[in-house]
Amino acid sequence: MCGIMGYVGSRSAPQVLLEGLKRLEYRGYDSAGIALFLDQHFVLKKSEGRLENVERLFQSESKRLEKATCGIGHTRWATHGKPTTQNAHPHQTGHVVLVHNGIIENYLEIKRDLLSRGHRPNSETDSELFGFLVLESMGSGKSLEAAVRESFAKIRGQCSVVVMSEREPGVVVGVRNGSPLVVARDPQGGVFFASDAQPLLPFSQDVIFLDHGDLAIATDQSLRIVDLQSGEVVHRESSHLEWSLEQIDKAGFPHYMLKEIHEQPGALIDTLNGLVDRDGFEPFTLADQPGVALLRQAKELVLVACGTSWHAALLGKYWLESWAKIPVSVDLASEFRYRNPVIRPGTLVVGISQSGETADTLAVLRDMRSRNIPCLGISNVRRSSISRDTDAVFYTSAGPEIGVAATKTFLAQVLTLLVIAGFLSREHKTLSSAELSRLFEDVIRLPHVLAEGLEHDSEMMKKIEETVNQLTLNGDAASAVKGFFFMGRGYSFPIALEGALKLKEIAYDHAEGYAAGELKHGPIAMLDAAMVAVVLAPRDAWREKTGSNLEEVKARGAKVVGVGESADDQLSHLCDFWIPLPVESRKLDPALLPFLLAPVVQLLSYRRAVLKGTDVDKPRNLAKSVTVE
Ligand code: M6R
Repeated sequence: MCGIMGYVGSRSAPQVLLEGLKRLEYRGYDSAGIALFLDQHFVLKKSEGRLENVERLFQSESKRLEKATCGIGHTRWATHGKPTTQNAHPHQTGHVVLVHNGIIENYLEIKRDLLSRGHRPNSETDSELFGFLVLESMGSGKSLEAAVRESFAKIRGQCSVVVMSEREPGVVVGVRNGSPLVVARDPQGGVFFASDAQPLLPFSQDVIFLDHGDLAIATDQSLRIVDLQSGEVVHRESSHLEWSLEQIDKAGFPHYMLKEIHEQPGALIDTLNGLVDRDGFEPFTLADQPGVALLRQAKELVLVACGTSWHAALLGKYWLESWAKIPVSVDLASEFRYRNPVIRPGTLVVGISQSGETADTLAVLRDMRSRNIPCLGISNVRRSSISRDTDAVFYTSAGPEIGVAATKTFLAQVLTLLVIAGFLSREHKTLSSAELSRLFEDVIRLPHVLAEGLEHDSEMMKKIEETVNQLTLNGDAASAVKGFFFMGRGYSFPIALEGALKLKEIAYDHAEGYAAGELKHGPIAMLDAAMVAVVLAPRDAWREKTGSNLEEVKARGAKVVGVGESADDQLSHLCDFWIPLPVESRKLDPALLPFLLAPVVQLLSYRRAVLKGTDVDKPRNLAKSVTVE
């Protein structure tokens, strides 16, 4: 989604803005731009495509432009209007310039009014219209701050804006009204604005997450935050970020995605430590937090999410139902919100979103809360919007995830659901203490088993590489590959869905995830030698049945990539390629095998994408947090 940077202070604004925007590139964008205040006027540099195009525009006048100490920048992900230079932000309207993230829902109405008053927008965006409103308001004698407040009262929709005016040199005004906006004081004097905390890290680790309805007014000497509606000053505490710069750099990996896949054992350990009370004697004791009371009261759970987070929810259902015996339904947020679902008394709605900003998931939670239905969130981003729309949030501790493809945040969500299932099983006495202790011991061992599998010379890693190389580079076989089926049963089914999503997302291959038993109800007709079937067949309760499905796909001539135990001679001999998991299932409860299968499908997709030469961390048409419907 769109990224925002703003700065006023004593540093060179183009350097600050470009560095910040680079750190926001992971969110996905299709055009970019910067506006600097220099010699009493704005200088705008915008371009469609990559940020490098904007950087290039600076080159011929870099000496002059570097003197600017105030400006705003933006990376745009098109919603209203094509991804062109003309539609790129910042938008200048007379003496006003702005960047915007989110949507102005009543833009048609506003546009009609503006046209009838003789204004002529230059772009097709909803964002530019806000500049006309501010211009009109300042024209009637209002300050920039007052004009922004007055203009905001005229628009509907979740968004954030950062605005400057040539009439008030050195003043930058930012509003958070839904989409996130973060500010930080510059230790050298001045203030930074950004749509996300991590681009501010090179400059300051103490940041203020603005609340919904906050307006921040910054100069090189001051920062004031007021309530958008009343104009009264509000106090916001700053948060000290523990994230180090090292954590958000690639640490020697060629891509963030690969680094984040390798960070999964650490993400599991940190998430577990953040959730459970390790000093308690009972396994699966949740550390004291508000969400615990909500879980205790719940008679039924409804899990809502989108994309990869929805796959985490599907997986969580297995543990929650089979261990804790609590009824669970799982829904896609974009479907749930328009379906008038029946919610029984005692239901707890759980919204799962790594970013905490996904528009559809938030809309469901807002709607449920307006009906007095208790809501819990699971998110990786502290103080993200989900905290506003729920009664309590369980935070995963996967650290910042920069690659657009979710990897470590997925495993952290899945672990959170597993821990909740363990906790409820103890509360409901549906599992014995001995069973819970055994499971918990395995959960503690799990990150170490995964870390072994991810060692670069492990059998698992070698076989993944070999398999993808042959399927992608090996002459006829590779060029004949038309598409992929990922299949699995039980716990492996959501991982099959996730494998197919990952492959589509970053390698742009046609891929489908299927419950292995469903293949014969239609899709088996597609199988021939040009199709690859990735069969997830670990030694668990479903292995025999999955084995039969594997034979069915083999008989149709598809190339078969099997994933299971190294010692599974029976299945491995049937497959063209066999990827061994780093542990035998008797050494780990089979319920935990999805934690080992997920990195395999992530790495298969990663390797395939790299060999195909796609932009792995910033796949086309996608955004890291989908803040629009
Ligand atoms: O931030 P969220 O978890 O709410 O995001 C939901 C989806 O947009 C996200 O999982 C998407 O499918 C990922 N890019 C998948 O890798």
